[in-house]
Amino acid sequence: MVKRVLVTGGTGYIGSHTVVELLEAGYDVVIVDNLSNSERSVLKGIEKITGRRVPFHKADCQDETAMRRIFRQHGFDAVIHFAASKAVGESVEKPLLYYRNNLSSLMNILTLMRECGVPNLVFSSSCTVYGQAEKLPVSERTPRREATSPYGNTKHMCEDIIRDSVAAYPEIRSIALRYFNPIGAHESAEIGELPRGVPNNLIPFVTQTAAGIRPMLSVFGDDYNTPDGSCIRDYINVTDLAKAHVVAVARMTEGRMKAPFEVFNIGTGRGVSTLEVVRTFEKVNNLKLNYKIVGRRAGDIEAVWANPSYANEELGWKAEKSLDETLRSAWKWQQHLDNKKHK
Ligand code: UD1
Repeated sequence: MVKRVLVTGGTGYIGSHTVVELLEAGYDVVIVDNLSNSERSVLKGIEKITGRRVPFHKADCQDETAMRRIFRQHGFDAVIHFAASKAVGESVEKPLLYYRNNLSSLMNILTLMRECGVPNLVFSSSCTVYGQAEKLPVSERTPRREATSPYGNTKHMCEDIIRDSVAAYPEIRSIALRYFNPIGAHESAEIGELPRGVPNNLIPFVTQTAAGIRPMLSVFGDDYNTPDGSCIRDYINVTDLAKAHVVAVARMTEGRMKAPFEVFNIGTGRGVSTLEVVRTFEKVNNLKLNYKIVGRRAGDIEAVWANPSYANEELGWKAEKSLDETLRSAWKWQQHLDNKKHK
């Protein structure tokens, strides 16, 4: 029997790439998204790549009644819960919005999973739960640190809500994937990141600067205690990240979990500095980027990268795509967007 997966936030950046990988692995998928930070046109991109039309519900995970209808209508084997607010700066200004959205959405999902007999949940967590770790790279055993933003705190709290729920309710289980920095776009350039307004994240800002939409990239700080003074992150190709979700769903639905709640780091294991990203982007796309070094961004972590060996060994998953290839895909996606606008 073909397994059916509910993907909340399925028109978002990571969600849409995961939907494509699930379809290509033979799963049925239903998408729920409130379109608060994504576009309906993403569904067309998914269809172009996979040749399959995915059932879509415009609904908010905070709306328990609407979600109950969707759970009852379809019957799911697993849920991948992406839908959440994710801008660090905005979360400082609007903490209640973040706590309400991220926590109540998850609690509704867990409630409905129990009620409707859906045992498996993959949850989008983040390396933000490690904060600035004392020892790098971070493994899943690295202690979590107090979050530096309400956004980060919601990831902590959501992990705790899941841990306590699966401990109390034996009918549900969960895998939390702690993402490092997802970048790039599907190799077809039919889907990718669609930031609204001025991008907060590095890569969309880089590609928009290269496209002339932004005059200049600001590199936040070159006085960190790192080899070139800029921050270090673990940049992971979004398709590689999407594939980790497919593997996690299979592990759960095939009964291969070792505990009712498991956590995996999803990164490459390689730390790359902001300046290295800029230089690599220039090199692989054969262009010059207008950038300047400015002061540090409040709340930034100096350096973090993953020890992904637990995911490599236990999940049988490994990041495969190189930074070069990934930064080429990011630029190809930006050009695809610009072409579409001018048509
Ligand atoms: C952070 C969180 C991550 C969260 C994400 C959501 C950490 C370690 N990571 O990612 O968990 O999911 O926000 O958005 O807390 N940079 C510039 N100029 C720019 C933009 C960024 O120099 O215009 C630099 C930043 O200083 C940083 C790096 O690029 O060093 C990556 O930044 P960004 O893409 O915003 O991601 P994080 O802040 O690492």
